[in-house]
Amino acid sequence: MWKKTCSSVPAILLIFTLLPALSISKVHIYVTNSVPNDSPNPVTTHCQSRNDDLGYHTLHVNQSTNWSFNPKLGGSTLFFCHLWWGDRNVAYNAYEEKIPWFCAIRGKLPWQIKRNTCYWEARADGIYFNKVNDPNDSPSWVKKYPWTV
Ligand SMILES: *[C@@H]1O[C@H](CO)[C@@H](O)[C@H](O)[C@H]1NC(C)=O
Ligand SMILES: *[C@@H]1O[C@H](CO)[C@@H](O)[C@H](O)[C@H]1NC(C)=O
Repeated sequence: MWKKTCSSVPAILLIFTLLPALSISKVHIYVTNSVPNDSPNPVTTHCQSRNDDLGYHTLHVNQSTNWSFNPKLGGSTLFFCHLWWGDRNVAYNAYEEKIPWFCAIRGKLPWQIKRNTCYWEARADGIYFNKVNDPNDSPSWVKKYPWTV
């Protein structure tokens, strides 16, 4: 009995060490209108999860909308966005908790999260994704979804 209690102490310590890194790393999401300057149309966004409807946002060129939330360990948070630009639109998952490291970038230690941010950009040819948002590192932007007409 005593032996058992004793041996569970390191496990408990480990859990308390890991939990903050895994669960309290707030997720930030940005959605930016990066269509060409001369576009006559703004981009309208509507993002929502099962519990939160973030409403409609009209973004002019270079404007963005953002939100943040605390993920839950083993949770199933999913944010779904619908974007419209003139006669085009696209719907996609802006965050899926069940996909590990969806927005997160690892720190030095395997369980550490350095940052937990997803950047989404609406461009002329579709929706691009990045976890770093370094404008000098354009290869880090990846086209994820084309517009549908
Ligand atoms: C949007 O940002 C880009 C890159 O910084 C810039 O070249 C462009 O002029 C900006 N457009 C507007 C309408 O602010
Ligand atoms: C994020 O959105 C809030 C409004 O919800 C705004 O006040 C804030 O400036 C935005 N942050 C950035 C970095 O765009």
